[in-house]
Amino acid sequence: MTGRFISFEGIDGSGKSTQARRLAEALRARGQAVTLTREPGGSAGAEEIRRLVLEGATDRWSAETEILLFTAARRDHLEKTIRPALARGEVVITDRFADSTRIFQGITRGDLTTTVDRLHELMIGVEPDLTLLIDIDPAEGLRRATARAGAEMRFEDMGLAFQTRARAGFLALADRHPRFRVIPGARSVEDVAADVLAAVLGAGAA
Ligand code: ADP
Ligand code: TYD
Repeated sequence: MTGRFISFEGIDGSGKSTQARRLAEALRARGQAVTLTREPGGSAGAEEIRRLVLEGATDRWSAETEILLFTAARRDHLEKTIRPALARGEVVITDRFADSTRIFQGITRGDLTTTVDRLHELMIGVEPDLTLLIDIDPAEGLRRATARAGAEMRFEDMGLAFQTRARAGFLALADRHPRFRVIPGARSVEDVAADVLAAVLGAGAA
């Protein structure tokens, strides 16, 4: 089966990047062509926007300005990377997509859900076929993310209460949309990866 679009979501440090990489390797080992990508980023222009949104002071941008920047990055990512790969019949695995904007910009700092949804409909208009939500306790996520700390700490620096709201938001979103599978993330990399692969194969995604 080809042309499937899979996203990983979850709070910072939940293990998305690790699991996205593992899934890409597992599908490639089965002979499937895979494009592994990420947001913000995944295309040259979007990677430039990534630096603007992930580095610097926490109050550098308002939530409203972030919605515009993340959506601009996503549009470029969709045009330059995701659509061409799906058209070639590949499985596209993205580390974050529009659900991240719904949560991090839409609900964590006031209710901007309608703004996020309208802009998404206008400029993006697609959803993944399958979304793997790696769920983890925010304290554990922050501990992992902080251990790996580099320049991209703007969102981690927003703190535990912010990540706690984000986790609850992701779980509520998963409840409302059948494309989600919730995978408990506080286990070994191998155990999480086995559940991820089972969810993908069960959904007929490779
Ligand atoms: P995310 O992309 O969700 O922020 P990462 O995959 O980058 O998460 O993982 C964050 C950190 O936690 C990394 O240092 C990674 O090696 C580590 N990590 C990932 N998965 C696990 C796991 N299951 N158990 C312990 N540590 C993990
Ligand atoms: P990411 O590189 O996935 O960081 P991590 O590996 O720590 O999870 O994403 C960087 C940050 O960008 C993350 O804190 C969430 C944030 N983000 C948004 O706020 N909105 C978005 O639309 C996206 C894609 C990411």
